[in-house]
Amino acid sequence: MDFTEILTAAGQTDLLKHLESLSGDARTQLERDIASQDWEELKKLHAEKSAANLSDNVSADLTPMPFKIAVDDLRYDFWKETGEILLGKGQVAAFLVAGGQGSRLGFDGPKGMFDIGLPSHKSLFQLQAERLQNLAAQVGHSIPWCIMTSPLNHEATVTFFRDNNFFGINREDIRFFEQGTICALTPEGKAVLDGDRLALVPDGNGGCFRALAQSGTLAWLVERGVQYVFLYSVDNALCRICDPAFIGALAADGRALSASKVVHKAGPQEKVGIFAFQNKKPGVVEYSDLPENYRDMTNADGSLTFDGGNIAIHLFKISGLRKLQTSRLPWHTARKTVCGIEKCWKFEQFLFDAFPQLGSMLPFGVVREEEFSPVKNAEGNDSPKTAREMIGALHREWLRKAHVEVNPKMLYEISPKISYAGEGLTRRLFERELGRNILEFEE
Ligand code: UD1
Repeated sequence: MDFTEILTAAGQTDLLKHLESLSGDARTQLERDIASQDWEELKKLHAEKSAANLSDNVSADLTPMPFKIAVDDLRYDFWKETGEILLGKGQVAAFLVAGGQGSRLGFDGPKGMFDIGLPSHKSLFQLQAERLQNLAAQVGHSIPWCIMTSPLNHEATVTFFRDNNFFGINREDIRFFEQGTICALTPEGKAVLDGDRLALVPDGNGGCFRALAQSGTLAWLVERGVQYVFLYSVDNALCRICDPAFIGALAADGRALSASKVVHKAGPQEKVGIFAFQNKKPGVVEYSDLPENYRDMTNADGSLTFDGGNIAIHLFKISGLRKLQTSRLPWHTARKTVCGIEKCWKFEQFLFDAFPQLGSMLPFGVVREEEFSPVKNAEGNDSPKTAREMIGALHREWLRKAHVEVNPKMLYEISPKISYAGEGLTRRLFERELGRNILEFEE
């Protein structure tokens, strides 16, 4: 690779000088960093973004995407059974995007390792692993699990899984891979240096399509006969991983290449993206990009107009993922202090920007109390405490429906090992498992 030519053309002569001042390992390492970047793209990005307004433009032509709560649909049971059949044929995989840093939570490690303080003290990773295994046992087929990390948390993530014996999942059913990175730029567009290395940051969860293909994981899934990929975020303590009804609904839809779970927004201020048509194309507008007039807009009955909240649970047909491996998603920007330099440019891609490229998508409404409890902040909204309360209340409701006499003042934690979504609970099981796989607690 001709670094002189590439860096000169990209206007990165300071970086070139720094490279030339180095020798040995430090030089090799910086060369590697430089080779990992698309310098032409970075130059273009900086020019475009500094010419435009910082806020990623949202078109004026925005209309809400209608959705229905799926469990109220007469076809729900049919979808569920269809999904179970597909899972049983090995046609479904789970794909966790876990390359983010979770900085809002103030936890210094991969977010999936976080213990939200349930009586069992299971980490988010363990809750997901056990739910996945329970489902795999019910459908009689293993479910491949792809886990995307970033260079910042890869080692820690894999070590945690290894130390926990992969939570009992067969090693050959789990595949870890790293997402790409992109260099932060100074306000003037120069590459930021972190010591003798480039200041590289993860390229956003939208890097997942590229990383899935480039790591060979897409090919691995195709080889295994996978047709549907359930993509989800790490921090939702109620995620119904590989939900059969969701899978069955997409399978029954002849047109859509993807489906997304949607909840009614808790209020205008809730920090969730919203599902909408932008220039008639379906997609998500991130909360940070949604202009206030749209955010606060109401219908005649007082309900929010842009009410479809994104809970970061999506499903893709494998043909959709194949299409996305080479498509270019837009870059979003943030101005942050990086390595002591103020107002640097940080770029990232959002995975939901894939939807406008795929055309038709299927919104699948779900009940928040059953499926969405994100752990974002150390305290207050969307915190470990709210997650414990929601899990505790939901599991108490599952027991109540199974005619178990529960203490209405107490909360319950039912291990995903014994129930995936409330099924199979009986009074006898409760008596046997209380203190073991069923734990009672208070907040
Ligand atoms: C995300 C959604 C938002 C949604 C909300 C629901 C995006 C861009 N935004 O917001 O619309 O309403 O979840 O909880 O998806 N990640 C990576 N690599 C990265 C950055 C993030 O893998 O470079 C992963 C994170 O580990 C996490 C997921 O992507 O699992 C979501 O990222 P996060 O930064 O937590 O997004 P939110 O702001 O919570």
